[in-house]
Amino acid sequence: MQKTINTGLVGVTGYTGMELARLLIGHPVFKLVQATSRTEAGKSLVDIYPHLQGTPLADTPISQPDPDRLAKECNLVFLAVPHGTAMNIAAELLARKVRVIDLSADFRLRDVGIYEQWYNVTHTQSQLLPQAVYGLPELYAEDIAHADLIANPGCYPTSAILGLYPALEHGLIETDGIVVDSKSGATGAGRKASVPSLFCEVNENFRAYNLGKHRHTPEIEQEASVAAGTPIILSFNTHLLPIDRGILSTIYTRLIQPATLSAIHDLFSRFYADKPWVRVLPQGTLPQIKWVRGTMFCDIGLALDPRTHRLIIVTAIDNLCRGASGQALANANIMFGLDQTMGLAMGALLP
Ligand SMILES: NC(=O)c1ccc[n+]([C@@H]2O[C@H](COP(=O)([O-])OP(=O)(O)OC[C@H]3O[C@@H](n4cnc5c(N)ncnc54)[C@H](OP(=O)(O)O)[C@@H]3O)[C@@H](O)[C@H]2O)c1
Repeated sequence: MQKTINTGLVGVTGYTGMELARLLIGHPVFKLVQATSRTEAGKSLVDIYPHLQGTPLADTPISQPDPDRLAKECNLVFLAVPHGTAMNIAAELLARKVRVIDLSADFRLRDVGIYEQWYNVTHTQSQLLPQAVYGLPELYAEDIAHADLIANPGCYPTSAILGLYPALEHGLIETDGIVVDSKSGATGAGRKASVPSLFCEVNENFRAYNLGKHRHTPEIEQEASVAAGTPIILSFNTHLLPIDRGILSTIYTRLIQPATLSAIHDLFSRFYADKPWVRVLPQGTLPQIKWVRGTMFCDIGLALDPRTHRLIIVTAIDNLCRGASGQALANANIMFGLDQTMGLAMGALLP
């Protein structure tokens, strides 16, 4: 039988922290032994999440984040905390020989100047950037297996990169003029209180925000550029849906040469043939957020607009599972030589 691997979770009270705790309940190898929150320390998980009653995590104590204690008890620590905060905790844990999966943006951008420009934060641990591996399993599984520091991808970037990658890598589409038009549920903004996230602001409403300046733009451009082998600048625009979780991205591209939908569908299907969580939907079927809710799946649908020579790629993911915590668990599986789908069967559907 596989030995238990002890894990810690910094930021258990946030949306991604709680999603990770949900997934860890069913994991046969990873055990959550340290869960932290500065504001809820001293309580048990069941005190703040009564639905955990009767699960193995109910009595897990919540403690203050303390690198010494985390390092003493854990082989791996997940950081589900805001950007700017994660970088210093990661450095303290790595110095104590603990492997780290960071759900924030702190180690996702390889160019520190671009990080500082878009996030308006000084990177205090930029010496760690060269060792950070971008944790998108479909693209970087080999590097993830040997990494001590994983930069878990952002939610919007996961939906955009998986949709664009096959078309860019195969030189199917023009590298300029790409438009990524994304819509997310309200958990994408995190659990902290803010007026734009209030029920009455979000419910029965739909609005655009951060047009042309969303912080996930350089992350999408970074990986799109790798796929294309040439620097890419694209337009990335975001909208807030009146739902709790899920992202739908509609990606407008232009074909370089005329091609049939069937040939393009074939190319995408081959690209993701051995990837358990990317489902290239049958021709004529377009993704829906409900079909991926609470799962690791990224559904991809394709459409051709012959009048404008556009290939329109539509993707749907769950921002908390595939776009954050499920992806973090998949990375943990790969890092520790486990089957990448362990604890994520059927993508870990919500009950
Ligand atoms: N929400 C999403 O869909 C999503 C998707 C992908 C990635 N992410 C990224 O994942 C990270 C967590 O996101 P979230 O949505 O779960 O955020 P959240 O709901 O706001 O939760 C943040 C968590 O971090 C803790 N925390 C805050 N400041 C801290 C500090 N200085 N030191 C230690 N702990 C601190 C909070 O607890 P205390 O304040 O009690 O300590 C809380 O548990 C962020 O970097 C976010 O950008 C989020």
